[in-house]
Amino acid sequence: MNILLVGSGGREHALAWKLAQSPSLTRLYAAPGNPGIAEEAEIVALDIADHAAVVGFCADRAIGLVVIGPEAPLVDGLSDALRAAGVPVFGPSRAAAQLEGSKGFTKDLCARAGIPTAGYVRTSSLEEARAALARFAPPYVLKADGLAAGKGVVIAQSLAEAEAALAEMFGGAFGSAGAEVVIEEFLEGEEASFFALTDGTHIIPFGSAQDHKRVGEGDTGPNTGGMGAYSPAPVLTSDLQGRVMAEIIEPTVRTMREEGHPYQGVLYAGLMLTAEGPKLIEYNVRFGDPECQVLMMRLESDLVALMLACAQGKLEDAAIAWRNEAALTVVMAAKGYPGTPDKGGKIALDDAEADGAKVFHAGTAIKDGALVANGGRVLNVTALGRSVTEAQQRAYEAVDRISFPTGFCRRDIGWREVAREQAGADN
Ligand code: AMP
Ligand code: GLY
Repeated sequence: MNILLVGSGGREHALAWKLAQSPSLTRLYAAPGNPGIAEEAEIVALDIADHAAVVGFCADRAIGLVVIGPEAPLVDGLSDALRAAGVPVFGPSRAAAQLEGSKGFTKDLCARAGIPTAGYVRTSSLEEARAALARFAPPYVLKADGLAAGKGVVIAQSLAEAEAALAEMFGGAFGSAGAEVVIEEFLEGEEASFFALTDGTHIIPFGSAQDHKRVGEGDTGPNTGGMGAYSPAPVLTSDLQGRVMAEIIEPTVRTMREEGHPYQGVLYAGLMLTAEGPKLIEYNVRFGDPECQVLMMRLESDLVALMLACAQGKLEDAAIAWRNEAALTVVMAAKGYPGTPDKGGKIALDDAEADGAKVFHAGTAIKDGALVANGGRVLNVTALGRSVTEAQQRAYEAVDRISFPTGFCRRDIGWREVAREQAGADN
């Protein structure tokens, strides 16, 4: 089968790497791709915003499955155009992608379906939002309704800070994404991510992970797309995963189907593990980046078969096998990130993969025959181990074999779990 993969990040390199291992793959195409993806796929010059062009390409090359990595083309309805043309696609419709595309949509769905989440108010003007603050206590959680590349959430410690942030949001700081703002109750607990595959009716749990959103060690400094991740996240015990399925994922998939927007693809739940149990912080309608990288390292099953089962409503018969190992990925970013990253810095990967580690490319490019940095997050250095501690050690050994003078990484990815493993070993 011929497959088209849409995207250009580390997540898509990991997907390309795993898709390429499938016995049922004939040719893998990718757009826009990156130099890492180019090792696994033929990069095609295709404007993914031009849905008719993508549909035409699929007809020309007899594409049997399109895999859409990022959220923007999903929210933009690329999968609807493909499905209308009879092309199987892994990824939700535009209507179902509202689960990520509109925070207000998801909060209202949680309210209708009785899904545990933070209490909230939707507001559509500065006056309304200011008045609503009185119903909450600090810290105030303020969220631009639409897609804001992970930057649309403000946690304000004081009323003055909250009012200033609201003024910025309604003043257009997030463009149309900030035309509505959701104000939420602050949830206390540890965060974890849970993934499920679904064909709209059947659901299969697809693992857990924890990421590190802050740029600095000890989880300090500004938020980023994610500086590293590991999987599984043992804090999400099998008992808690059962509750997440029953209380959060199943009612979501059922309600979406019953309301005429069946959800198909991967559903990524960002969770807060509170004293009362897991609560939904947000949904994403795609794999996490870099969480996908650690999931793909651990997955033993054929990814093509699983994705096709989701696309064709046949997930009931699918089974998933995982390696009995932990995986951890360290993001190497260009200096300046998450502000303006330093582009063009030379990278030498040398023998980084010598010990079984895998280096996924995110923002890289080839310039004059050399590999250079071409974005904020540049490389995802990923390793397996019998424990998170061992996976962490192997990932950093690989990091240390890479030459990237204009790059940096956090040295403490996985710290929570490493500390728990250490405490367990001491007992
Ligand atoms: P989101 O983009 O909705 O995942 O929010 C980004 C980050 O803000 C989350 O990963 C949490 O760390 C934090 N956050 C979001 N909503 C809440 C909440 N209701 N209570 C506490 N922290 C939150
Ligand atoms: N790493 C967080 C995300 O992909 O949304």
